Amino acid sequence: MDLVTAFIVLLVILLPILRGLFQRSRLPPSPSFGLPLIGHLHLLGRMPHQSLQALAKKHGSILFLRLGIIPAVVVSSVDLAKEVLKNQDLTFASRPYFLVGEDVGYHFMGMSLAGYGDHWKKLRRLYTLELFTAKRIDSFLSLRLEELSHMLSAVLYAHEKNQAVNMRNLLTCFTFNTITRILMNKRYFQHQGEELQGIDSSEASVFKAVLSEITEISLQFHISEFVPAYLRWMDLSVYHMRRLHADQDKFLQKIVDEHKYEKNKSSKDFMDLMLELFDGDPKGDNMIKAAMTYLQELVSAGTETSATTVEWTFGEILHRAPHVLTKAHEELDSVVGRSRLVDEADLPRLPYLQAIIKEAFRLHVPVPLLVPHMSMHEASLDGYHVPKGATTIVNAYAIGRDPALWDNPLEFRPERFLGSSMDVKGQDFELLPFGSGRRACPGMGLGLKTVQLALANLIHGFDWKASGQNALEEAAGAVIWLKTPLEAVGSPRLQVEVLTSCHI
Ligand code: HEM
Repeated sequence: MDLVTAFIVLLVILLPILRGLFQRSRLPPSPSFGLPLIGHLHLLGRMPHQSLQALAKKHGSILFLRLGIIPAVVVSSVDLAKEVLKNQDLTFASRPYFLVGEDVGYHFMGMSLAGYGDHWKKLRRLYTLELFTAKRIDSFLSLRLEELSHMLSAVLYAHEKNQAVNMRNLLTCFTFNTITRILMNKRYFQHQGEELQGIDSSEASVFKAVLSEITEISLQFHISEFVPAYLRWMDLSVYHMRRLHADQDKFLQKIVDEHKYEKNKSSKDFMDLMLELFDGDPKGDNMIKAAMTYLQELVSAGTETSATTVEWTFGEILHRAPHVLTKAHEELDSVVGRSRLVDEADLPRLPYLQAIIKEAFRLHVPVPLLVPHMSMHEASLDGYHVPKGATTIVNAYAIGRDPALWDNPLEFRPERFLGSSMDVKGQDFELLPFGSGRRACPGMGLGLKTVQLALANLIHGFDWKASGQNALEEAAGAVIWLKTPLEAVGSPRLQVEVLTSCHI
């Protein structure tokens, strides 16, 4: 080998090494070298959004972590969130590996955990152009109103019995029934005091138990997500997920079968629409499994997010900011009046109520780290190198509480939004409850309507007092709940006939 050939060979070997070293030197700041095997996993703690907020305060708004073998980048500023979710959103449009996507998610058939590609695009089109159009959401209005009247009647019932209302049970019952009726024309829960009507309570409790277990573990970190694929079997959660999947499968199959045999119905739910869309599809059976996945994912995505937002709002109003209730009552009395409930058409004329909802989403963003994204190729953020395949986390919680953006950020003060055009719909990166860009929440319209209608009418219909103490601490699951469920007593402000009628 002559000298020139030897030099070229050396160059070919050294160049990638030098490039790797150079890129490594340009990675975002890291809190430490990380531990062998687990890297920085131990720094996440039980409340990853809080731990990452604290790390950002110390090390800056972009961080590099190693989660097991997975490189991760965490951003906690408006500019960097905009870079990830808007300016470079195609680069960051994929998802990292989630254990729950395997069995429970029918091998990543659902949309929320699917990598970026044709399958995800097809689903996104289906969800945004067929299932979640404004017209379709409006067509389910009467059903939302019926559920609303069940919820208000339950508060009335508790008042008559001199009992406090468990707000979490009340709200999850409302959001769960609203979603399952839209999706599969089934009502699974009865409120306190409500008579059982066509509800198979054992079926309901199986469904709820399976779903809440799935929802709870779905966005938690699992060790198998951070080790090489051939070591995943070592994670005990894998076996837990398989058991859950078997229960879920039995249950969902029954719903699909019922729908297949009940064709030509006058009013169609989402399941009917999906089965119609895939009618004649050569992969018919697969599509049935897929429809089952969508049902599971939509119920999980749409119920707790809305319920926890309203529970936190009442928590703040009743325990920390009572003036908000008085001001909201004044606005509702002057715009809506006491002879009827609040209609969806009233909402644009209720700026204070809208401000309350924005403030709740700012201070208590239900999904604080959004759903983690993944870089599909190398990228540059703020001059730092982001490797291909890096889990990319936007800490919406830290942004919503950043003192550089918000005056007294821990104070619940809806007034900060009055006269401001800032909204929650993904255009303003200070406020990101639904994310933004390609992977933003497709159920935002429905989620917002559910939260607005429930909150507006619970406030309009009743005077509220907290029952007992509540320190308003957080508990982490797939969404951030209050650690202690909120108890409150509601006394009617409107006539009983108004509260119990579902016609607005
Ligand atoms: C207050 C209510 C809701 C909140 C706060 C919320 C929040 C979110 C967030 C933060 C994401 C992730 C965005 C990202 O990755 O950047 C998301 C995704 C998603 N949401 Fe929602 N959501 C709500 C209601 C709903 C409803 C009612 C549905 C449907 C019934 C729904 C279905 C989905 C789906 C399918 C995705 C995955 C999108 C994708 O990966 O492309 N959500 N949601």
